[in-house]
Amino acid sequence: MTQLRVRASGALRGRLQVPGDKSISHRTLLLGALADGESRVRGFLRCGDCLATLACVRMLGVEVDETDSSSPSAASVDLVVAGRGRRGLAKPGEPLHCARSGTTMRLLAGILAGQSFASVLTGDPQLLRRPMRRVVEPLRAAGADIEDNGGRAPLTIRGRGLRGCDHDLAVASAQVKSALLLAGLNADGPTTVRQPGPARDHTERMLAAMGVEIATDGLAVTLRPSGSLAPLALEVPRDFSSAAYPLVAATLVHGSSVTLEAVGVNPTRTGLLDVLRAMGAQVVLANKQEQGNEPVADLAVTGGSLSGVEVGGETVVRMIDEFPILAVAATQARGTTIVRNAAELRVKETDRIATVVEELTKLGARIEGRAGGFVVQGPTRLTGGVVNSHGDHRLAMALAVAGLLANGEVVVEGAECIDDSFPGFAETMHALGAGIAAA
Ligand code: S3P
Repeated sequence: MTQLRVRASGALRGRLQVPGDKSISHRTLLLGALADGESRVRGFLRCGDCLATLACVRMLGVEVDETDSSSPSAASVDLVVAGRGRRGLAKPGEPLHCARSGTTMRLLAGILAGQSFASVLTGDPQLLRRPMRRVVEPLRAAGADIEDNGGRAPLTIRGRGLRGCDHDLAVASAQVKSALLLAGLNADGPTTVRQPGPARDHTERMLAAMGVEIATDGLAVTLRPSGSLAPLALEVPRDFSSAAYPLVAATLVHGSSVTLEAVGVNPTRTGLLDVLRAMGAQVVLANKQEQGNEPVADLAVTGGSLSGVEVGGETVVRMIDEFPILAVAATQARGTTIVRNAAELRVKETDRIATVVEELTKLGARIEGRAGGFVVQGPTRLTGGVVNSHGDHRLAMALAVAGLLANGEVVVEGAECIDDSFPGFAETMHALGAGIAAA
């Protein structure tokens, strides 16, 4: 078990490059596997979740070569993915193990439903507790043959030809939307997915770049299956969800000035930026450009004081992974912060309403859970203490940032899970002057 030991430190300063985007890295492998020809990917994120996807696509007969990376981050590597065509994957010899990665399991479910063989998707206990009915039921409506385990994994998928279908999703989930679109590649007619909110659209952007006929009309996406998928050639943007930790840390630690270079700023991902600005944070976007069919920009952030804010509605969807770190920001903001419409947090890597409230309370935060969110009163001078990640990478990183604001040492236990999305987190924060060390 790795611990992080965190002490309040002086101002954070410097320029840095956070690792590549996790969602896009998964998709370079999964979509590249279905292309006709070799996809070339720069800056693939070598994190725990994406390595689970890499192992699975290799078991499906896809050759993936890791080449030397030109990227300065050890967490990045360049890849060549030898695609096998949209229905050309090979039957795996054993169950596909998705570790703790919901994206791996749900997107693969959509891909495997339309292949010509049977396969099993399984994972770590944390993933086996998460809901799969949301993806299994609409896939069945498209004709898929999937056996689940009371709405959870393991999933046994007997691949076969699928029907085009019109899906009305109950939850705004990019994983479910993507699974249905990927299944739609092997359907006999168009697939439409209607979402209740603007879930991240990386799959749509990448499929369009591969020549797939895909159109978005408001919150509805329609894919028409056609011929082959052209290989990808892209550089993975840096992950806004990883940038969120140094971004909030620099906002909260007085006198800080940090620039995060070439971060993905796709509007379906940057709800936290809007919320922090509404709270009074000073973040300037510079050097805006396109990279891998996605908008990227440098984020220049300076420390300042924040006020409480109310967050609900579609903003929740656009910052779904950023609530643990928002809760930390809220403890330092003047007034009340209220989060609503965020019941999805209960089915992430952990029940993030329960675990965030439990752990931040140990550090003296004034935070209460609600059925669909939480309420924080600030500002609070946090105290030192021992907290636990519950095996949730985003909670672990949020607690480390909380430690930078506490008046005693904060020990984050179970910090090894940070590698699921942000290998090198402690070193990156340390390089900015943060008192964070792995023990
Ligand atoms: C992801 C979608 C989100 C997000 C997860 C990654 C993706 O999950 O929480 O970290 O890559 O599609 P949901 O689609 O379940 O909201």
